[in-house]
Amino acid sequence: MKTLILSSDNEDIKKAAEIIKQGGIVAMPTETVYGLAADALNGNAVRKIFEAKGRPMDNPLIVHISDISQIYQLVKEFPQRAEILAENFWPGPLTIILPKSDIIPDEVSAGLDTVAIRFPSHETAQRLISLSAPLAAPSANLSGSPSPTTLRHVRDDMNGRIDAIIDGGDCEVGVESTVVTLAENIPMLLRPGGITAEQLHAAIGELKIANAVTNPLADGEKAASPGMKYKHYSPKAEVILLDGENASFYRYINKITDSNTAVLCYNEDIKYITLPSIPIGKKHDYSEQAHMLFTALRKADEMGFTAVYARCPEKTGVGLAVYNRIIRAAGFNIISLEDTD
Ligand code: TXA
Ligand code: MG
Repeated sequence: MKTLILSSDNEDIKKAAEIIKQGGIVAMPTETVYGLAADALNGNAVRKIFEAKGRPMDNPLIVHISDISQIYQLVKEFPQRAEILAENFWPGPLTIILPKSDIIPDEVSAGLDTVAIRFPSHETAQRLISLSAPLAAPSANLSGSPSPTTLRHVRDDMNGRIDAIIDGGDCEVGVESTVVTLAENIPMLLRPGGITAEQLHAAIGELKIANAVTNPLADGEKAASPGMKYKHYSPKAEVILLDGENASFYRYINKITDSNTAVLCYNEDIKYITLPSIPIGKKHDYSEQAHMLFTALRKADEMGFTAVYARCPEKTGVGLAVYNRIIRAAGFNIISLEDTD
């Protein structure tokens, strides 16, 4: 299949909308990461997304809307808490899970009785949705790889596998949306992202944080969000997290002599490290780290490194999202440096 590269101008977005209305699949920019979109109400079109990504069919998709009025046909109920979240954080990087209506195809909800809804703030995504339909869209990467935040990332993974890619430049947030479920009695954060747990708590009060946000699933534990059970965000290189202060981190890193090894570090670390370094932003700028993380993980592979040591991010604010992604990229392999001194 030849993959068309489209711009974000009106004519090209109309072309992309036509492709979607005819049951095709198109990668679109959003403020978080690029998504791979199909008409959410067309089960056959949605199935093509799973094929192109190599995604397990039991992992449900997010439905993207461009106007709050579109939500009423998609969900069974729209509780007050959802209204509060929508008012505070939509359009933006927040996905809300609610009981689904009957028009949601099984391919989208993967057999669950809920559906995930997001109203993205990216103007191109909004225009595409308005001209076509509510769009089911996972991240536009091959299943398991880091999510794409640039046109090049999408092309590297999807060229020849999908109908078109809309070029929207670099994605601003850089990690996928925050996912919160309101389908339980107490709201629960399933995936941290650009809207923080602190912001959600301030808006709706009580909020649980799913164990899988920071921990591996225990044997036999059921994932509240099916996506959390898969290995994720991984470059081909082995990623190892190092948990410790500057001095013990530099000491550990500077003993390594293997030339295939790189270090994912903060900007401030570069001058203290002898191995090749791939910076992910300033130490306390979690939004910058989120913005740079997936590009850094892909860069490690492009540069041919086979092992990448990374600093263990702080777990507050958007830092929790960075931690959640990097710990999965590392397959939960963390070395506590306090123990190695
Ligand atoms: O920022 C984003 O959310 C991006 C852009 C394209 O919008 N999309 C994205 O989709 O990250 P995806 O499919 O890569 O991640 C969706 C996550 C998965 O972990 C999935 O298991 C979970 O949301 N999910 C979707 N529907 C769900 C549901 N009904 N119940 C529980 N988890 C659900
Ligand atoms: Mg994904």
